Amino acid sequence: MDSSLYQTIQPSLQQLQKWKNSFGSFTTHPSLVVEDSIIQETLRTLSERLTGNYPFHHPSYAGQMLKPPHPVAALAYSLTMGLNPNNHALDGGPPSSEMEKECVQALANLFGYHHPYLGHLSSSGTIANLEALWVARSIHPKKGIAYSSEAHYTHGRMAQVLGMRAHSFQLDSEHSITEHLDALPFDSIGTLIVTMGTTGLGKVEPLAHILDWAHSRDIRIHIDAAYGGFFKSISNLLPGPVAHWDRMHEADSIVIDPHKHGLQPYGCGCVLFKNPEVGVFYKHDSPYTYFSSEELHLGEISLECSRAGASAAAFWATLQCFPLQSNLGFGPILTACHRAAIKAYNYLNKCDVLTAYIAPELDIITYFAGEKDSLRSTSTISNLSKEIFHQGMAHKDLSQQYFISLYTISSKEFSQRFPEIPADSADVILLRSVLMRPEQEYTVEDLLCRIEADAKNLL
Ligand SMILES: Cc1ncc(COP(=O)(O)O)c(C=O)c1O
Repeated sequence: MDSSLYQTIQPSLQQLQKWKNSFGSFTTHPSLVVEDSIIQETLRTLSERLTGNYPFHHPSYAGQMLKPPHPVAALAYSLTMGLNPNNHALDGGPPSSEMEKECVQALANLFGYHHPYLGHLSSSGTIANLEALWVARSIHPKKGIAYSSEAHYTHGRMAQVLGMRAHSFQLDSEHSITEHLDALPFDSIGTLIVTMGTTGLGKVEPLAHILDWAHSRDIRIHIDAAYGGFFKSISNLLPGPVAHWDRMHEADSIVIDPHKHGLQPYGCGCVLFKNPEVGVFYKHDSPYTYFSSEELHLGEISLECSRAGASAAAFWATLQCFPLQSNLGFGPILTACHRAAIKAYNYLNKCDVLTAYIAPELDIITYFAGEKDSLRSTSTISNLSKEIFHQGMAHKDLSQQYFISLYTISSKEFSQRFPEIPADSADVILLRSVLMRPEQEYTVEDLLCRIEADAKNLL
């Protein structure tokens, strides 16, 4: 966080301190006292060790789905964390529980869920998806789940945890969807997962077609929009059919991660259920937790118990500054990220030594290196990808370093798009850039220019 921002938080800290003091003064127990010099030295060592990170804050970082939170979120989190409310029960944090409900309502409304619905924040996308699958199993105890081969691995893993059967299907093109879905043992599938914003390629799976297919077979739909969910605010600007976004409210449950595109620190996922009656599956009889009100406690509709109230406060504060609108708040941020990916795609289409793998749908771009006119094979492409990936981080001048990621797909899948490139290995490793920083719309061409120069040197 910019150090000048610490000034911004001072009046609020003082206000909170005044409130704390109004309960009467007391002396901190001697067992908790640490000398200032020790704290200072510890923090100095900490900041030194933290420089071992990759520069997540910088536009030259285009590796994985991560970036620091917006300063508004960081300040709101810090301020609230000083009190450390627990959003498990209303008693644990009445104001932050209210804020959580307001945040959840904003997300629900974004997708077209309106009262009544059920939802809450969670500590991650993994836990939010686990909860959605747990409800799926509670509704259809004898049936399994299905998801595309590009779904996040968490679904397969959580199916194991829940003891559910999991089926995977291909979703290579919109034309062959029904064919692939028809091959599923649909009598034994209770819930089908649709990923809107796949982790690898940032693809938006064709929800509208899948909904039609699933509903006529009485199969529930869960949308994993952990990554792509915030793009709903600019769905009319995206290249794919807007119908997929427009029909999100028909799904039975949706997951979105504010700690990905929602400018939040880690510890902020969200799960939403269209039908509030699924609350019945959470029923329990805790003698410990609730005593302050008859109102719904978030802990009564959540698998997790303790959760940071600071997460809800940070997201609430962020939504005050960045509404979920297409032309205000989140919209312009996501539009810039998408524009960065389009710029990258256009650059790659003109480049001699780098080739785009597919056109970006959101803000993730995948590509590979090699002379376009000479002989390339899947194994030479993989080797080059690995070399470029390491070379980006090996430049002596830190300002010349760049950070991208590798993405492995089967050569069979690759050959469907590039049949002219011989497949001499089972898999092929591609280069991948996640352009989550709006600044990257101005810097992505320079980033690719540096990658191109390294590719030429390596060839
Ligand atoms: C589509 C998708 N679902 C789920 C997850 C898991 O979310 P988390 O890392 O918040 O647990 C991810 C993470 O990248 C994701 O991209």
